[in-house]
Amino acid sequence: MAKVLVTHQLPGNRIHELPDHCDMNVWMGPGLLPADGLAEELEDCDGLLCLLTDRVDAALLDANPQLRFISSMSVGVDHIDVSAATARGIPVGNTPGVLVDTTADATFALLLAAARRLVEADRFVRGGHWRVENAWSPEFFTGKDVSGATLGIVGLGEVGQAVARRAAAFGMRVIGWNRSPLQVDGVANRELDDLLAESDFVSINVALGDETRNLIDERRIGLMKEDAVLVNTARGGIVDERALAEALSHGGLAAAGLDVFAREPVAEDHPLLSLPNVITTPHIGSATEATRAKMADMAAGNILAALAGDRMPCCVNPEVYGASSD
Ligand code: GLV
Repeated sequence: MAKVLVTHQLPGNRIHELPDHCDMNVWMGPGLLPADGLAEELEDCDGLLCLLTDRVDAALLDANPQLRFISSMSVGVDHIDVSAATARGIPVGNTPGVLVDTTADATFALLLAAARRLVEADRFVRGGHWRVENAWSPEFFTGKDVSGATLGIVGLGEVGQAVARRAAAFGMRVIGWNRSPLQVDGVANRELDDLLAESDFVSINVALGDETRNLIDERRIGLMKEDAVLVNTARGGIVDERALAEALSHGGLAAAGLDVFAREPVAEDHPLLSLPNVITTPHIGSATEATRAKMADMAAGNILAALAGDRMPCCVNPEVYGASSD
């Protein structure tokens, strides 16, 4: 019987189908499976069902030539060396689609929270600073309107488009940039530099890859308006964090809402965390119970298909299936 390593206990229903089709080994913790544990547990496994915290690089694949298929419970697959997997004929599954609205909601939550300084205001009240002598004033906690403002969306994939729909409902003017030009209803296309210079709010919704690593670098951050807000719910490596912190602390940008960091979990002493105009969340863009269950079901579905000798329904490298692939 084929052996499959599952690196975390998963929600959803389909994971319970696996033991009928394979010898399933689930890492029960405590915590996440460490890298050396992954290398050890993967020995003899035909398949791997992993999370975005599991790094699957060429060395791991080399050490496990028996591995035949990988499914990740994530839409992003930047934690997997997909080229190395493809070179070895290993299909890599992911979970697109089901997290689109949930992630767009999280993006908008961060955008509004940053625009209206919600976390700062919450800390102010809880910290006992809201007193009779400063109970209210015309400038008290003033933020930015989203209505009438311009939102620039970097990456017009499914999540970017869902963010655009929300922005339109909030009365925003929406402009967008995509790596391969794409026409999206209600979104006016711009060159990336022009988008950054024109936007009051910028939302990063592009996948992380070789072409998008450090896409929003120091020069591009310098193009943004001084009162602009940057929101990133995609991946940390897309934005130069040092340049972002510098801009946010010296009046180069108004605020940022960040769900993702280049290194996660972010270090406690990271310069961005000491800034009052930064709102952060711990990579929870897709974190609703319903969405996580759907993602787990898709990830398990990819494994079940592979075990049955079928093509994974959601595969990022379908070329491994040869000429008959879609
Ligand atoms: C979340 O970041 C994902 O890639 O699913």
